[in-house]
Amino acid sequence: MNSLQMTPDEIFQEARDRESQESEVWDLKDLIRICLHHRWLIGYCAAGFLALSIFYSLFASKTYEAISTVELPASAQSANDAIRTLASLPSTGDPIQTYLDVGNSNSVAEYAIQKLNLTQNPLFRYFSFIHFAFEHPTVQQLTTYLMKNIVSVTNNKNSDLLVIQVDQKKDAKLAADIANAWAEGFIAVNLAISQESAQRQYVFIHSQLGLMAKKLATDRDLKSNYLNPSNEYQSDEVIYNLLLQQDQQAEIEANADNSGIVVVDHAEVPEKAKWPKLIICVILGLFLGLFAGIQSAYLIERFQDRIKMDEDLKRASGITQLGQIPDFRHENGKQVVSSTELFSPHHLISDEKFRFSSYHESFKVFRTNLNFSHVDRDPRAIAVLSSHSGEGKTLVNSNLALVLAELGQKVLLVDADLRKPSIGVMFGVATPKESGLPMLLAGRGKLEDMVVDSGIPNLTLLPNNTIPPNPAELLGSGTLKRVLDDMKSKYDYVIFDAAPVLPVTDSILLSTSLDGVVLLARWNKTRRSDFRRAFQQLRNARATLLGTALNAVEVRAGLYGYGYGYGYGYGHGFGNKGNNGNSRNNGSNGKGEKGSEKKIPQIPAERPK
Ligand SMILES: Nc1ncnc2c1ncn2[C@@H]1O[C@H](COP(=O)(O)OP(=O)(O)OP(=O)(O)O)[C@@H](O)[C@H]1O
Ligand SMILES: [Mg+2]
Repeated sequence: MNSLQMTPDEIFQEARDRESQESEVWDLKDLIRICLHHRWLIGYCAAGFLALSIFYSLFASKTYEAISTVELPASAQSANDAIRTLASLPSTGDPIQTYLDVGNSNSVAEYAIQKLNLTQNPLFRYFSFIHFAFEHPTVQQLTTYLMKNIVSVTNNKNSDLLVIQVDQKKDAKLAADIANAWAEGFIAVNLAISQESAQRQYVFIHSQLGLMAKKLATDRDLKSNYLNPSNEYQSDEVIYNLLLQQDQQAEIEANADNSGIVVVDHAEVPEKAKWPKLIICVILGLFLGLFAGIQSAYLIERFQDRIKMDEDLKRASGITQLGQIPDFRHENGKQVVSSTELFSPHHLISDEKFRFSSYHESFKVFRTNLNFSHVDRDPRAIAVLSSHSGEGKTLVNSNLALVLAELGQKVLLVDADLRKPSIGVMFGVATPKESGLPMLLAGRGKLEDMVVDSGIPNLTLLPNNTIPPNPAELLGSGTLKRVLDDMKSKYDYVIFDAAPVLPVTDSILLSTSLDGVVLLARWNKTRRSDFRRAFQQLRNARATLLGTALNAVEVRAGLYGYGYGYGYGYGHGFGNKGNNGNSRNNGSNGKGEKGSEKKIPQIPAERPK
């Protein structure tokens, strides 16, 4: 659907959908900006984790690794297999797996525990909550503990080697002792098993041999009597000889004191701890610190919900950004204004110190973009609005009026904030009695009698010092249209400084009569949700939204998108030659007096109720 055919609600919904989609997938640019903005936080996190990891690697209890290796007999099971086949005994399965199971058996663990008297070793004491005291473990407890946490017996596929690995905390020698004792225990247990199984085989074969001897004697008798025509006698004789051979072998095996398993490598006492390793800890600490820092920065951004980048405006509204105004107090990283005044002519771009500033330049860009914002007709009655108070509406409207006047256009700046008028104070001019927009709307005078000369060529002011009891009614009345037409017939541009959008309806009512409005956000102050709400309200009122603008961007924080400097606005035919110079020069002394010498009345910071 074309955006022109969409209802305000649909446009807003689309913008909101887009924001929720986009805000979930923060792109790399956002991430880099956030990282740069929160670089100190990320740096502190990384440094903190680094310090912790170094501390840990130096002071955490060390783990020592000791390894012993044993070689298994390559054909340990092969001789037995023939007998098993012959005797129809069940197969014992994968021999290597059997050795692994033996290596991880309680018997081997108990052998090592007994040999090293580990139950009495203080390293294995534990705190018993039942007796509320430290106790030595039982053999069973220690067996479980060793097998779970300390010892691992593994085998590399395609090899006859069994690796016994011990990871022991604090005591390097103990690690080696356990590994060696475990290997010894493994050999002893295997020897006992093979002796026992050889003994059983010997008994079985021996009994078979006896039976076969009897059968052979019978066969011989039958043969001599010619009663046995077959060759049974010969075949029985072959079986008898085989059994005799196996019987002798089984007897030897049953009495053998060697299981065929040999220790290939005895465990050495490790010189260095396996863990913690300084370099790994440092890398891990740094990595974790950076991760924690970036995560915190991301959460802060999310939690604060403040507008900080031009993308935020785009996401929340979906319309073009027309301007980005820097914080005028800083230029090129230096403080140029230290004033604590709320409003002052010295804060306006007409002040000499801003002649070549990025602050002044940003308003030229704003002016250029504003001129191109509406293709059909030039918007002439404009207001820069914002969601809340203190976001810079008065300052931006005043500067916009000034920068338009620089082009030689006749500009009227109207104080339409009927609750907290401030244009008079901003320009340091006195407001005549019985004048201002409320009076005009009430039909109590003529425009030409109420306007005040700003002291700047082409710029006329309509300040106000009357706070009417019914501002919304006045701004919503049909008279506004007539007054507006009158203003537009006398001036090229009429700029309205109005109240904030969210707390009161004045601006919404006003916006419907204007040619267009710009929605302003203050960098790092305006909440995205408020900006969206203000945008929605203006949309609902069918105000012509020309675009958005971001105010008071900290150039020092340049990361947040204040990317353009001088020259961006040139080339569009809106150069500042001619009138521009005059207006600047005259800006401060148009009436033969310097702006700085004017007495600047102060107004209360709080909005009058
Ligand atoms: N770009 C800027 N750089 C530094 N300070 C700024 C900037 N814009 C506005 N301020 C300061 O912020 C304060 C509030 O500005 P301003 O009064 O213009 O806001 P406002 O939106 O009109 O507020 P209100 O709705 O209460 O009238 C003023 O002290 C002004 O000097
Ligand atoms: Mg204001």
